[in-house]
Amino acid sequence: MEVVIVPDAAAGGELIAESMAQLLRRKPDALLGVATGSTPLPVYQALAARVRAGAVDTHRARIAQLDEYVGLPADHPESYRSVLRREVLEPLGIPMDAFTGPDGTADDVQAACEEYDRALAAAGGVDLQLLGIGTDGHIGFNEPCSSLASRTRIKTLTEQTRIDNARFFDGDIAQVPHHVITQGIGTILEARHLVLLATGEGKADAVAATVEGPVAAICPASALQLHPHATVVADEAAASKLKLADYFRNTYAHKPEWQGL
Ligand code: GLP
Repeated sequence: MEVVIVPDAAAGGELIAESMAQLLRRKPDALLGVATGSTPLPVYQALAARVRAGAVDTHRARIAQLDEYVGLPADHPESYRSVLRREVLEPLGIPMDAFTGPDGTADDVQAACEEYDRALAAAGGVDLQLLGIGTDGHIGFNEPCSSLASRTRIKTLTEQTRIDNARFFDGDIAQVPHHVITQGIGTILEARHLVLLATGEGKADAVAATVEGPVAAICPASALQLHPHATVVADEAAASKLKLADYFRNTYAHKPEWQGL
């Protein structure tokens, strides 16, 4: 995989936003897979700035959701559908009918998961999937020991992830759902380009395990090593435990600009 080390989160946001903008110029109806969490926000802000400046046109762009809480009504402010409407669709001027996501309130959650995998395939597959990473190496909500071949399905969150996400629920862990729907690792690997952004020291162990560790279910993000076009963008703090950091810097410094991310 390609590893790009950037000075800070804002630089990572600019780099990935530019890559998304280039994709949309090439393919105006591209299907962008988007993630929640704090890490991707600089990407969405940088892409929205390009939209406002007229540097990219999003009117045919389509958006696909990575994961969702089970049981939160779609209009709950912390359902990932609501978060993505606020943080991605509205700032980018993309209407909700260009959005596809799993139904976290379905009576038959398993059927809703299978339906979502079919919907992604029917939409032509995800062109670029943006990912964050959990402190334990999870992607989407694929917690450690998720099958690397998994499809979209229901998962139970680890206590650590519920603690990490309590900040979005007034700091009250009791409000964080136990169950979620997540695209499986096998589903995520079907996207044409995977871009994982990691920022801050708290992600340094997870980034090292993802990039330099073995491909192993204990670190779900390590499955990116199996993908022919995976890019990890890490700020200095998140890259601080990479043994090959200098090699990655040197490789990127010599990359021809036309190759993009
Ligand atoms: C949640 C999301 C993930 C995200 C992770 C990290 O678990 N389901 O998609 O990558 O949080 O969040 P943050 O970027 O806020 O650290």
